[in-house]
Amino acid sequence: MIPSLPAERAADRPFDPPPALRALPPLSRMRYPDGHEGWLATGHAVVRDVLADRRFSSRTDLRHIPIEGLNGSTDPAPPGALISLDPPDHTRYRRLLAGKFTTRRMRLLSDRVRAFTEERLDAMAEQDGPVDLVAALAFPVPAQMIGELLGIPHAERAEFEERSAPLFRLGATRDELQATTGVLFAYLAGLVARKREDPTDDLLSDLVHTDLTDQELVMIAFLLLGAGLDTTSNMIGMGAFALLANPDQLAVLRSEPGSVTGAVEELMRYLSVVPVLVRTALEDVELHGETVKAGEAVTVSIPAANHDPAKFPDPDRLDLRRSANGHVGFGHGIHQCLGQQLARVELEVVLSALFSRFPDLRLAVPPEQVPLRTDMVVYGVHELPVDWKE
Ligand code: HEM
Repeated sequence: MIPSLPAERAADRPFDPPPALRALPPLSRMRYPDGHEGWLATGHAVVRDVLADRRFSSRTDLRHIPIEGLNGSTDPAPPGALISLDPPDHTRYRRLLAGKFTTRRMRLLSDRVRAFTEERLDAMAEQDGPVDLVAALAFPVPAQMIGELLGIPHAERAEFEERSAPLFRLGATRDELQATTGVLFAYLAGLVARKREDPTDDLLSDLVHTDLTDQELVMIAFLLLGAGLDTTSNMIGMGAFALLANPDQLAVLRSEPGSVTGAVEELMRYLSVVPVLVRTALEDVELHGETVKAGEAVTVSIPAANHDPAKFPDPDRLDLRRSANGHVGFGHGIHQCLGQQLARVELEVVLSALFSRFPDLRLAVPPEQVPLRTDMVVYGVHELPVDWKE
């Protein structure tokens, strides 16, 4: 029985999973912070099997939390919170939402990602000296896109972002989270009311025409923000860091513009910014030679699965030309990321535009001084100081 989830990364290997995960068999017994004796899955095949198996539940009221301080409720999920619901409730929301992530809406958003990225790069080019790429680009682009998806009026965006910040901090207290959630819910309730009154061309306005209640709409808006902002922002920041730290791979991206789609998949595999997903067995399940008993938790490690040498040879090497198909960076099974199409567009557009606009882009500090988000729910960089001038 391992005493807790190994989370410590090697100081000089920021892109590798915590080394202690490597030493484990694909499925281990693990003690949770609340004393529960559950499981930890690190092998790629076991992780996919758990995520694809409906006998493993996503319900919050059944779960045990594997990381001390991980912002997680153990109350029943409210209506609309599809990420924490099982079928048939999950199925109904997922269908409704998937039907609104239409090709037209994605095309409109792609055009906006391109235009907004250019705006941010223009603003960056006007500055002298080192710039923090997170503040200049990696955060604003996904924040803008979630704002446009929800139809948040431009003048209200900054305040909205500021208010949501504590949601993403690992050490945030229960009180802080409750206060933040309360403020955001009140704001989103007002937004839903405005969309009912005066629909605009955005996803939230599309959704007010369905039979979803106000409470469900607010929850869905909250979920899109929670799931789509920090994840994408850290993939952009960490993705730029990984490319700057691997100049041979950056050269591949630059010399083969068509390679960006594969590059994004490989970065999703290599960086695995979402550290864990948690499920609970609804009945006894035979899993890779072990019996997971009803009520036991299984934590799946995304970085470990995506760096499993049995699936991805030489896994700690960033190789933009490899096929990263089958990675679990967006999860797997019925809860697989609903926003992955948008996330991929953002990553492709931002990373290719950044490196073509600034051919001499480089880190402005030694790599070991880049502050890593080891203290946050989603892994990444707090800041990425870059420069491009002589
Ligand atoms: C690179 C960026 C992203 C990463 C790494 C990521 C990762 C993930 C992962 C691992 C899951 C599975 C959760 C589970 O099984 O419990 C998930 C689900 C989800 N994601 Fe993403 N995501 C990203 C971007 C986005 C964006 C941009 C949006 C929305 C605009 C979004 C919305 C969602 C939603 C709504 C779910 C829940 C789906 C369901 O339960 O059926 N994500 N995401």
